[in-house]
Amino acid sequence: MTLLRDRDLAHAFDHASHTYDLLTGLNPGYRSDLLRSARRLRLPGDGAGLRVLDLGCGTGASTRALLRAAPCADITGVDASAGMLERATAKPWPERVRFLHLTAEEVATSGEGPFDAVFAAYLFRNVTDPDQVLASVRRLLRPGGRLAVHDYSLSGSAAHRALWTAVCRGLIIPAGTVTGDRALYHHLWRSVLAFDTAPAFTDRLARAGFTDVRATPVAGWQTGIVHTFLARNGSTAPAPRVG
Ligand SMILES: C[S@@+](CC[C@H](N)C(=O)[O-])C[C@H]1O[C@@H](n2cnc3c(N)ncnc32)[C@H](O)[C@@H]1O
Repeated sequence: MTLLRDRDLAHAFDHASHTYDLLTGLNPGYRSDLLRSARRLRLPGDGAGLRVLDLGCGTGASTRALLRAAPCADITGVDASAGMLERATAKPWPERVRFLHLTAEEVATSGEGPFDAVFAAYLFRNVTDPDQVLASVRRLLRPGGRLAVHDYSLSGSAAHRALWTAVCRGLIIPAGTVTGDRALYHHLWRSVLAFDTAPAFTDRLARAGFTDVRATPVAGWQTGIVHTFLARNGSTAPAPRVG
């Protein structure tokens, strides 16, 4: 099966946006894992004075996690799906949170940034060219800025791969079929199998020029299936803010 990409993927998320929060709410740990990954960014001072980008913010679950991890930060959420963004913007947010309808590929040339940190939750598996998006993220981050990628990225063990397929066949794809989004949830299953393992994505981040790269598993049933990847944009030394 071909994976959904670009415009087709955005349209699939537009349709799925109506039931996205309901279905992810049924996944034990979905929101607490996002919060754990956002906290792993270790943004100082509750994020006061920091600008943070939520790349592929969807209906705002990852944005909410960022806001809880860094309640004083200025947060920009961007997403390619108008439907997902509509759900996000309908929720109550402080003024420091804003949303833009842009693709991850467009942000770097949109005049946005620099950012002190970028959070990308469940995005990279979906993009056509992850190396291009990582290069854009480096352009968007200030020197030394932090990146946290939270995604389905298998450990490489046969047991985790088999568990992922069993959960998709038994729960995720049937639930997505009921909501009329079978193609998207089939894409979810296949895209995880096709995506980098955690060691491979760690290598990809290092090749893209990120430093201090490490992968940490999440807790619960998704251990070995979902990882947080942490990295810095070059120098680990604190850099002065630009602009
Ligand atoms: C699985 S959802 C995750 C949403 C949110 N980050 C969360 O944690 O709940 C993936 C999101 O990435 C968005 N997305 C996929 N490819 C994209 C791209 N190239 N640029 C921007 N957004 C993209 C989709 O529209 C969708 O809203």
